[in-house]
Amino acid sequence: MSTTHVFHRSLRATPAVAVRGQGAWLYDSAGRAYLDGSGGAAVSCLGHNHPDVQAAMHAQIDQLAYAHTSFFTTEVAERLADNLVQHAPAGTSHAYFVSGGSEAVEAALKMARQYFVEIGQPQRRHIIARRQSYHGNTLGALAVGGNEWRREQFKPLLIDVTHVSPCYEYRDRRDDETPEAYGERLARELDDTITRLGADSVMAFVAEPVVGATAGALTPVPGYFRRIREVCDRYGVLLIADEVMCGMGRTGTLYAVEQEQVVPDLITIAKGLGGGYQPIGAVMAQEKIVAAMSAGTGFFQHGHTYLGHATACAAALAVQNVIQRDGLLQRVRDQGAGLRERLQATLGEHPHVGDIRGRGLFMGVELVADRATKQTFDPQLSLHARIKREAMSRGLMVYPMGGTIDGQRGDHVLLAPPFIISDDELDQLTERLAGAIDAAIAQTRS
Ligand SMILES: Cc1ncc(COP(=O)(O)O)c(C=O)c1O
Repeated sequence: MSTTHVFHRSLRATPAVAVRGQGAWLYDSAGRAYLDGSGGAAVSCLGHNHPDVQAAMHAQIDQLAYAHTSFFTTEVAERLADNLVQHAPAGTSHAYFVSGGSEAVEAALKMARQYFVEIGQPQRRHIIARRQSYHGNTLGALAVGGNEWRREQFKPLLIDVTHVSPCYEYRDRRDDETPEAYGERLARELDDTITRLGADSVMAFVAEPVVGATAGALTPVPGYFRRIREVCDRYGVLLIADEVMCGMGRTGTLYAVEQEQVVPDLITIAKGLGGGYQPIGAVMAQEKIVAAMSAGTGFFQHGHTYLGHATACAAALAVQNVIQRDGLLQRVRDQGAGLRERLQATLGEHPHVGDIRGRGLFMGVELVADRATKQTFDPQLSLHARIKREAMSRGLMVYPMGGTIDGQRGDHVLLAPPFIISDDELDQLTERLAGAIDAAIAQTRS
């Protein structure tokens, strides 16, 4: 298909044409079937073509597809916000609807800034985030993210953000350190960084509770986020949890932070919110943030044309209703345990699998050249890209990435299958993944 006019992600290769989806499967125009082992990029939580979501979208379109939010609200946006707030961490009072994850992060950053202006602390401007994180590709979100290769060429355009260490137990916890002590050390690093920048000039700390694409389902050590919350509270810094990828049930609880027993000030969500049926994201805001704006300026100085898009809200409401009705959070925990067992059984002793990690149906497999030394494969080999190709040729979608450690070195595969995945499909996922990994590694030797 050399005549494409679509500005594709790759300008050298046009991807296969997707024509149909059903459950955990996608089909291309040549009739090939692909098991969606990564939900695209951790998006398709209900799989494809879910009848209840389709029906809700059809009903909404027949009634009203869209109305601009500077003129109207819609019933469906109101009901979605009610539903989300009802199930959100304590103190959450409002949902601000946008069209995706990057927009959610941008909105959260501006909310944090406006909050401090409203409460008479306009000197607060510094943002601290973590290396080996991803918060989106718009300039503000890209600046906050700690994904070096994504940032590199755009650095001259990025606002100044300070980055601290990720919570990366497999590589960074010292042998003489307990997981808790490691978490303490990282919290101290944040504390020191805030003090160095000037405690009353720091606005927010931004982190993914479970790191997604950049480092492959990195889970925090026990107590890490509680220590982080304490540090933020000590200095009046807002905690922004980016749950665009790990949220909305992916880790077995609706919000990943629930398992950390902390309440962030702002939470960004997107992917699993609409499950890919429509582009939608949101910022879940604590009451104190909204109250400050309400008592002050009276509005949040932000906005996009498609805020609160009615059809997108209808899709998201239907997705959330299905998750609740069908008990899918429990299913994520059950199938997640099944996926972990299968990965351990198939890859646990693999000479080139260094770590299998994650939570719920959000799992990462880190590849190493040598298990004992944790030495990575030569980045020139692009092992991650080979694994993706080999997986696709076996009818499996997974989400591999390179630069796991520092943007250059390291390879991992991220798995995020639909919550509805069956045992048989989990078997196929694991077998095909193991085959793809072996074939990709074999290529690097030929
Ligand atoms: C944690 C996180 N934040 C933000 C984003 C950006 O979301 P979007 O691609 O919808 O703009 C992503 C996308 O992968 C993400 O994983």
